[in-house]
Amino acid sequence: MATHDDIALDEEFAQAPMRGSLMRRLFSYVRPYRRKFVLNLFLTVFATASGLLGPKMIQHGIDAFLAPGLAGGTAEAALGGVAWVSVLYLGNLLLGWGLSVWQVRSSIAIGQGAMNDLRLAVFEHIQRLSLNFFDRTHQGRIIARADSDVDSLDRVLTWGAAQALSSLVTLVGVVALMVRYDWRLCLAVSTVLPPLAWLTFWFHRRGREAYRSLRGTMSRVTAAMAENISGVRVVQAFVREDENLRRFRGLHDDFTGRWVASARIFHTYMPLVNLVAGTATAVVLGYGGWRVREGQLTVGELAAFVLYLGMFFGPVQTMGDLYNAVLSAAASAERIFALLDTEPQVRNRPDAAALPRGAGAVRFEGVRFRYDTTPADTWVLDGVDFEVPAGSTVALVGHTGSGKTSVISLLARFYEPQSGLILVDGLDIAAHTLESLHRQIGIVTQENFLFTGTLMENLKFGRPDATDEEVVAAAKALGTDEVIARLSEGYSTAIRERGGNLSAGERQLVTITRAMVADPRILILDEATSAVDPRTERVIQRALETLFTRRTSFVIAHRLSTVRHANLILVLDHGRVVERGTHDQLLALGGTYARLHAEFVRE
Ligand SMILES: Nc1ncnc2c1ncn2[C@@H]1O[C@H](COP(=O)(O)OP(=O)(O)O)[C@@H](O)[C@H]1O
Ligand SMILES: [Mg+2]
Repeated sequence: MATHDDIALDEEFAQAPMRGSLMRRLFSYVRPYRRKFVLNLFLTVFATASGLLGPKMIQHGIDAFLAPGLAGGTAEAALGGVAWVSVLYLGNLLLGWGLSVWQVRSSIAIGQGAMNDLRLAVFEHIQRLSLNFFDRTHQGRIIARADSDVDSLDRVLTWGAAQALSSLVTLVGVVALMVRYDWRLCLAVSTVLPPLAWLTFWFHRRGREAYRSLRGTMSRVTAAMAENISGVRVVQAFVREDENLRRFRGLHDDFTGRWVASARIFHTYMPLVNLVAGTATAVVLGYGGWRVREGQLTVGELAAFVLYLGMFFGPVQTMGDLYNAVLSAAASAERIFALLDTEPQVRNRPDAAALPRGAGAVRFEGVRFRYDTTPADTWVLDGVDFEVPAGSTVALVGHTGSGKTSVISLLARFYEPQSGLILVDGLDIAAHTLESLHRQIGIVTQENFLFTGTLMENLKFGRPDATDEEVVAAAKALGTDEVIARLSEGYSTAIRERGGNLSAGERQLVTITRAMVADPRILILDEATSAVDPRTERVIQRALETLFTRRTSFVIAHRLSTVRHANLILVLDHGRVVERGTHDQLLALGGTYARLHAEFVRE
């Protein structure tokens, strides 16, 4: 069975051809930095050229000063000349170093700029996507798009162009110089190329396999670690420490084995490559020495030749690595662009106007709806009709899975119905902008999600321009002020991820206050008051009564007290409204509601 880890691993190792259209689109992210980019390429060429100059200087030092000196010239002239060459050599080194530093800095600036833009684009786009996208896409894989896929592009965009150019210039320069010195020597050296190419190919394949299986076990080790940390209470409660350690040790032994195997491959490869490259040097020394004696080559040229030969293998290796990195980057780019090209299912029509801020009357007309993943022959909502006058409180009642949350999600236009109309104050919400609708709707669910930041920031989430005084006034009106004031630092308490440092009841009070601060026309509470202690419940209950006045409210609750006082109760069953009326009317009817009510009361 393929796990999410395996799929992620497959994605990580996936490669794709770098097509022209893909390349153009990628470089559109570099375009804002094109001046820096061109400068970068120039710097690369100069830095590389400076590196190529070194052996040439040494050759000159030997041939023009040292050799004549040894052959009977004056020692002073020879030494003076060599000293000059050394100074020039050092100067060139410094120049090359300076150019490289400059080039690397500009590379980082370009890469980080472009990657920043891309990451922001991904973040912005994800926020706009409709919920149907999140229904079918695993969260970890969405994050991987913004994270590891962007990283894999970063490698290529930041370093790729400069490294490719530098390697190319070095290779062309080195080969041209070596051929000019002695093409016969070049032919002799080229005999080591086939075994070297074969070696590289073979080790690459072995290394890739080993690395891949290493990553697989590594992610299992990490997953086991993470699971044990988040489940540490359960582990301790069931006294599973020893058993879990035993299992972890097994996993880890596997990991260690693969790590050693993979390290062995890499540590055999590099020395072997050096060995073969060293053979080439031996050939040059032997055959080259003979050519010098024949008078076909000077000592300086031979020395330069050996030095150039040393500069030959690095760029070959770099180009190979780069080729692979480009293929992986192409696969990453395809995945990122596929995400960026995913159109939100729900979006504003071209002619959409803002929904005017009205009284908040709601009407559903023949609404039929199914999710993307719902089987084609069934409806989650099968012709829902109802009308809610502005300012009234509506309770949605029904068994789990009857479609209550779906009704709410459609009203908030997180999804769009396949047929039927949803009207707010007589206006079709589909013909108006999403933003204007969402500004008028407040939703509190059981999830009560909070964000990292202070409590005050969280309370202003729906209306960032609210003043602190307004927030406190809202909390006082709701009666939640007391509870908030009791928190360690009151309104400036730092909230951890998802509100982990508050109790469930406190979180609930905060989310209700957050909805109050946003002051929506239409308020939706989806099982928002489940699972809190009686005391908090009383606070919430009072808060809700305050909240319900002056706005249209939809409540999904198992608490009878809330439901009983609703102006209208809609009973849902299999996506249809089977009963509607007030509490007393529905009890008198003796149908589904009466049976549900009897179940409530028994509990
Ligand atoms: N995001 C979703 N994707 C696919 N099916 C869903 C989704 N949410 C709910 N459903 C299905 O739709 C039906 C109605 O669910 P829902 O409206 O959440 O019920 P309720 O809130 O009344 O418990 C259920 O059969 C449920 O499995
Ligand atoms: Mg629900």
